[in-house]
Amino acid sequence: SIDDKVSELMSKMTLEEKVGQLNQYTGERLATGPVTANSTKYEDIKAGRVGSMLNVRGAKDTREVQALAMQSRLKIPLLFGLDVVHGYRVTFPIPLAEAASWDIPAIEGAARIAAEEASASGIHWTFAPMIDISRDPRWGRVMEGAGEDPYLGSIISSARVKGFQGKGLGTLDAIMACAKHFAAYGAALAGRDYNSVDMSERMLHEVYLPPFKAAMDAGVATFMNAFNDLNGIPATGSSYLQRDILKDSWKFPGFIVSDWGSIKEMVPHGYAKDNREAARLAIQAGSDMDMESHSYLPYLADLVKKGEVEERLIDDAVRRILTKKFEMGLFDDPYRFSNEAREKKTLNSAKNKEAARKMAEKSIVLLKNEGQILPLSKNAKKIAVIGPLGKSKEDMKGFWSVKWDDDDLVSLYEGLQKKVGAGSRIEYAMGCTISDTSRAGFADAIETAKRSDVVIMAVGETFDMSGEGNSRANIGLPGVQEELIKAIQATGKPVVVLVMAGRPLIFNWTSEHVPAIMYTWWLGSEAGHAMANVLFGDYNPAGKLPMTFPRSEGQIPLFYSYKNTGRPPLNENDRRYRSIYLDLPNTPRYAFGYGLSYTQFALSDLKLTKNSIHSSDSIVVSCTIRNTGKYAGEEVVQLYLQDMFASVTRPLKELKDFKKVMLQPGESKKLQFVINKDKLAFYDQQMNWTTEPGEFNLMLGTSSDKISLERKFQLIN
Ligand code: IFM
Repeated sequence: SIDDKVSELMSKMTLEEKVGQLNQYTGERLATGPVTANSTKYEDIKAGRVGSMLNVRGAKDTREVQALAMQSRLKIPLLFGLDVVHGYRVTFPIPLAEAASWDIPAIEGAARIAAEEASASGIHWTFAPMIDISRDPRWGRVMEGAGEDPYLGSIISSARVKGFQGKGLGTLDAIMACAKHFAAYGAALAGRDYNSVDMSERMLHEVYLPPFKAAMDAGVATFMNAFNDLNGIPATGSSYLQRDILKDSWKFPGFIVSDWGSIKEMVPHGYAKDNREAARLAIQAGSDMDMESHSYLPYLADLVKKGEVEERLIDDAVRRILTKKFEMGLFDDPYRFSNEAREKKTLNSAKNKEAARKMAEKSIVLLKNEGQILPLSKNAKKIAVIGPLGKSKEDMKGFWSVKWDDDDLVSLYEGLQKKVGAGSRIEYAMGCTISDTSRAGFADAIETAKRSDVVIMAVGETFDMSGEGNSRANIGLPGVQEELIKAIQATGKPVVVLVMAGRPLIFNWTSEHVPAIMYTWWLGSEAGHAMANVLFGDYNPAGKLPMTFPRSEGQIPLFYSYKNTGRPPLNENDRRYRSIYLDLPNTPRYAFGYGLSYTQFALSDLKLTKNSIHSSDSIVVSCTIRNTGKYAGEEVVQLYLQDMFASVTRPLKELKDFKKVMLQPGESKKLQFVINKDKLAFYDQQMNWTTEPGEFNLMLGTSSDKISLERKFQLIN
């Protein structure tokens, strides 16, 4: 068995060689964190002092670096890790955009393709999925996750793990997934990256941990800990998170890698006095591999020799890492993933690009379509594309893409050109840049708009305004972009605004005045084709927001599953001594689960098989959905529950299930959902996962703020 093989190998290893397995360095061409100069990197590999490399990619390069490991005494192969976050060679939409598809098979499929490409390029391990729940769009890393909701987040977490790991480790096209960042990183105070997190046990267990448990249940090979401190303890040094919860209670069999430098960062956190102490605290807390902290290699063996760290802790970490190397088949052939012929055949195929385009179409959210100005007629002869992102290729890839030349990326302008053909004229004017305040380009943009039948505006953020280290205190459209929109709207031409960004942005004037708005995030390699298909109705948009869009930064954190409070406003005018703002409504600009289609849908015929159940029982809920409009299209029917009274206060709505269905015009379908104990349980005052008898409200709708059907039922324990 693998266990025996690991034991046999470990019996031959010196303490120093064991510590070497816990050490991970970055390669030289890509950097995804602050680099520590290290000229002995390759010598360390040859000497068996490195267990894994990150940021080395490509069949040729990984083969060369692996060959160094084969010069070490025991020839233990390296693991090659990389942030394969949304595609590898073909870039898929950013994860938050994919989450807006609510299309779980498609999300799994996107991760599958990323794994096929990466594995053919020598990569064994992706640092994904990032499954941090986040309710603060100021935080730049919201672009990497699945948004604000633990239920949607868990389903997507599981799908991504399954996609990356395919038929299982050892299969040639499977890469190890990594559930990150454990834990609660998404709650960084005030949305500032790397900031502290202070959170109740209830919030941690109810909201932030479920996607991690889902990843674990889907068989995720590894976890990454986090930069943040949680309730006073850095996550990297937290035995509570890594040992008590993950390894002891959940029985996680894989290994935990630190985040880049997060072991040594326990020093500036004020938790460890130096790197040596940081190494001790991290290994004792259960952090198995040191990514770029340069702390395990110099200190762990000495800590063991001096009796400050028990050797069994090192052994446990080494065993976990070697087990994965065996499972990946690397002891049979350390080069099995570094195959240039396979790489050439697999990367950037037409099939993969098509999948990326389809995923991009599914990720687009139609926010507004007054007067049904969309879809555009294919007879539109004069189209103006205006705005700083109209011709951008670079930005289409979004943050955390694997860096390749931008040549293959399709801009909006190119996508439109291909779509409309020779009979139409497309003119472009930039109008302004993303961030500058100059209005010098407005006049040209206005003239361009005046010469057109319809204006498509491309505004938003640059790709590197979100992602790691890219928090923003103000999340409006940067620079003078909204001024440009106002100027173009004033021409009286029909205007469609496409907002491209890595997070929910605030654009109140546009929301109120422009007739058509689509949120297109960062859609990846095929962005332009996908946007053109949606604009011209070759694909009917069906995306739904996975995160609430606030009206103002002052509302943050704003999310749909809030609690009622003792003083909720009873109506819009009820404002004295109520839980309100004097200067803003409580409601968001766009709610979680919101998104329009070119067609319309109606829900009816809500039926429950029973009006009361025991907790061991279940209720089948059914309803009918009908496409009442004139286009074929998809709708996401969302099921929310409210526990009306409980021993702890409960949210007014919690997403518990959803179904995405495709309907032809006039077509109806019957949908069924099952309500069982799992959907009714919560953590009681003693933090037991339990149900309590009482009344529940069941809601079905097409957005968290558009509930069409409601019914109460009783739980009799
Ligand atoms: O995987 C990432 C992590 O999410 C943030 N810091 C750097 C790591 C490696 O690139």
